[in-house]
Amino acid sequence: MSKLKIIVGSTRPTRMADRVAPWVTAAARAHSGFEVEVLDLMEWDLPLFAEHFGTLGDPADPTYSQPLVKRWNRTIADGDAFLIITPEYNHSVPAALKNAIDTVWASNAFRNKPVAFVGYSAGIGGGIRSIEHLVQIAVEAEAVPLRSAVIVPFVNDAFGDDGLPTNPITTAGLSLLLEDLAWWSTALERARAAGELPPARARLRPLLAAAAGKAS
Ligand SMILES: Cc1cc2nc3c(=O)[nH]c(=O)nc-3n(C[C@H](O)[C@H](O)[C@H](O)COP(=O)(O)O)c2cc1C
Repeated sequence: MSKLKIIVGSTRPTRMADRVAPWVTAAARAHSGFEVEVLDLMEWDLPLFAEHFGTLGDPADPTYSQPLVKRWNRTIADGDAFLIITPEYNHSVPAALKNAIDTVWASNAFRNKPVAFVGYSAGIGGGIRSIEHLVQIAVEAEAVPLRSAVIVPFVNDAFGDDGLPTNPITTAGLSLLLEDLAWWSTALERARAAGELPPARARLRPLLAAAAGKAS
């Protein structure tokens, strides 16, 4: 079973995330392919990113500036797949969420693992601009962002008294997303188990050294 980490990206009191996250989490838990853990950034209280090579310690088992940062990196490293629930703030990602992703530094914890997104907003955009930015961010973290995404426009009116979306396309979209995430997670777990290339950064150094040797 794939270890799915659901990251809740809004940290403010009164947040609409408290309507979206319970629905997403219940659907993920009902899916037979996942063992689910919710990582609510409101509960993590991560410091504003300030790591550097002096705080890293042993790169094989980084120390970081604070135990919480180390625990966050280890928790992400423990995941096989990620589902990020994000509102749209000023046409982009909430700062706390970007900070949490940046905080996964030097551990390659997102590397070669699938990530999918559920976006929402008060307006018609439904968080799509936040998701588009997150796809770019995920690529640089060497995660594998999926096409399947759920967008929830007009989030204040999107859920009924039963806590479920009133628009059937929203429910169907989450089913497709979870199917895709489970498939990719299994595929990439097998691929990682068969062996991973070292990160491109590490592979570049010997290439440059060889090129410098030829030039001299
Ligand atoms: C700082 C900030 C920026 C926002 N920017 C946008 C925006 O660009 N587009 C949009 O549709 N809604 C925007 N909104 C409205 C949010 O979509 C709405 O408040 C939503 O409920 C935020 O999610 P949350 O309540 O879980 O934090 C913004 C809200 C905040 C607090």
